[in-house]
Amino acid sequence: MRIRYLGHSAFVLEAGGKRVVVDPFLSGNPRCPVKPEELDVDGIVLTHGHADHVGDAVAIAKRTGAIIVAPVELAGYMAGQGAPSVHGMNFGGSRQFDFGHVKMVPAWHSSSLDGPTGPIYLGNPAGFLITMEGVTVYHAGDTSLFGDMELIGRRHRIDVALLPIGDNYTMGPEDAVYAAELIKPRYVIPMHYGTFPVIEQDPNAFARLAEAAGVKCQVLAPGQEWVVPA
Ligand code: NI
Ligand code: MN
Repeated sequence: MRIRYLGHSAFVLEAGGKRVVVDPFLSGNPRCPVKPEELDVDGIVLTHGHADHVGDAVAIAKRTGAIIVAPVELAGYMAGQGAPSVHGMNFGGSRQFDFGHVKMVPAWHSSSLDGPTGPIYLGNPAGFLITMEGVTVYHAGDTSLFGDMELIGRRHRIDVALLPIGDNYTMGPEDAVYAAELIKPRYVIPMHYGTFPVIEQDPNAFARLAEAAGVKCQVLAPGQEWVVPA
């Protein structure tokens, strides 16, 4: 599997000739090197409704016809915004799609979009396990550290865990290292940092903490690609 980081929590996963993008916050992110109209994908996975995760999902879905996979309330909202194909899921549910296998797992956070009179709540936030060509990626979404990460890691062989380290809205670097120790992935990649001043972090400091705890860490710059070692 090839993983391309697009900044913040946005990643393109590519394997077996299929591509899926998770949390495509592109045009609103000054650190993202890719324009939404340059993205060619078969699937779009959304962890929750916040604008820094939904991003350009509807525009990409309309242009490419890619299916949007999301927590069921958010999937319904995306359909209402004009997405041509959506699929709602809920915790513990899994399903085989054209691009790969997806399982929805919990995340401790919130999920809303700004409406004209305040936030519109869009169900619960989630993490997703995405398996393509035998490689499993756990995108934790926005979350705090929680004990059931250990269960997720025991139940599934995780090749790569994508974990937020930005602090303030999610867990910070030290909790993310602890999370990686619970999940026991082959590799951890930090995300959700550096986009805004309030989530400024040094990913290399996180990498040193993770390696000291026995977890291999791959830091990716926005735009950088990495092939998951066999
Ligand atoms: Ni969020
Ligand atoms: Mn966020």
